[in-house]
Amino acid sequence: MEVIKTLILTPEEIPVAAELLAQGRVVAFPTETVYGLGANALEPQAVEAIFKAKGRPQDNPLIVHASEESQVEAFVKDIPPEARRLMKQFWPGPLTLVLSKTDLVPAVVTAGLDTVAVRVPNHPVALELLRQTGFPLAAPSANVSGRPSPTRAEHVYADLEGKIPAILDGGETGWGVESTVLDCTVWPFRLLRPGGVTLEELRALVPVEYGKSPGEAEKTPRSPGMKYQHYAPMATVYLVTGKRAAAKILESSEPYMQKKEKVGVMTWNERAHLYPGLTVLSMGSEGDLQALAHNLFHLLREADLLGIKVLFIEGVSEDHLGLAIMNRLRKAANHREIKT
Ligand code: TXA
Ligand code: MG
Repeated sequence: MEVIKTLILTPEEIPVAAELLAQGRVVAFPTETVYGLGANALEPQAVEAIFKAKGRPQDNPLIVHASEESQVEAFVKDIPPEARRLMKQFWPGPLTLVLSKTDLVPAVVTAGLDTVAVRVPNHPVALELLRQTGFPLAAPSANVSGRPSPTRAEHVYADLEGKIPAILDGGETGWGVESTVLDCTVWPFRLLRPGGVTLEELRALVPVEYGKSPGEAEKTPRSPGMKYQHYAPMATVYLVTGKRAAAKILESSEPYMQKKEKVGVMTWNERAHLYPGLTVLSMGSEGDLQALAHNLFHLLREADLLGIKVLFIEGVSEDHLGLAIMNRLRKAANHREIKT
């Protein structure tokens, strides 16, 4: 692939980004969840460039980002009143709704599905970019396929430098985990990917189903992206849950330490002292799920930069934001989970 210069743009340079997008190029931009790699959703060739830059499998559909609810109308049909209620409640925000698509949405965006995923992001830079372009942006997370999603412009740069013309730098993203993906073409609605808007928040408004066992969702993916290995650092990752996690991690790290391999552990500040000899990646103050989500993907990338060969991660409770965090951790661990 041709190597191109990757510009880092400031929010003042949104017009430059908008111009590139108008020319059918791709641009990485910040959202309130993670950085996205955007292109004009109505231009199949522009959208194809996203797949190429990321090395993304063609059968994994993209989310269409709009500046407001009214812009979505042209791309979706049969909006159930309950979906409408969710838009009113959570947009702009980290909730993606899967709805029936109209013919305006090119097949490459939806990987040939007759549904399309749509959301209105809650980030001033993303919203201004969408307003200036005037067209919706198809955008997956701006990482190389399989890598942790980017929450800082430098993460995007590390993955896509030389492959995309520009990155709009809006600083660190807020949530740190991607949007919640909800299938509104079935009843009750089905949670396809837990994210910033929690299952509890959704259920307070509408009935929502969610496959409890992570394996189950994987076998019959309604959301094609769910079947791919994701969020993986170079290290071999083990997710460890339960009361005896610390003892188990220490015991399991022994053989690696003997081979002089660097062993890392992701744990809360208050528990760091339990792991002498291990490289600690701090999850923040115990129980602060918001802070953990914010730092999660950065920590996974840090593990690589530190040269960690084996990484043990302490599991968290699956309430509220914990459900999205554990979903990402299970994938990072490629489902290597140790229950104590
Ligand atoms: O927070 C986010 O959602 C970020 C920011 C950039 O908006 N985007 C993001 O996109 O995470 P991506 O492509 O990494 O993940 C989109 C997920 C994938 O699992 C994909 O399979 C699913 O949404 N998806 C997209 N269109 C779908 C559809 N029509 N039906 C079912 N799942 C769909
Ligand atoms: Mg992604």
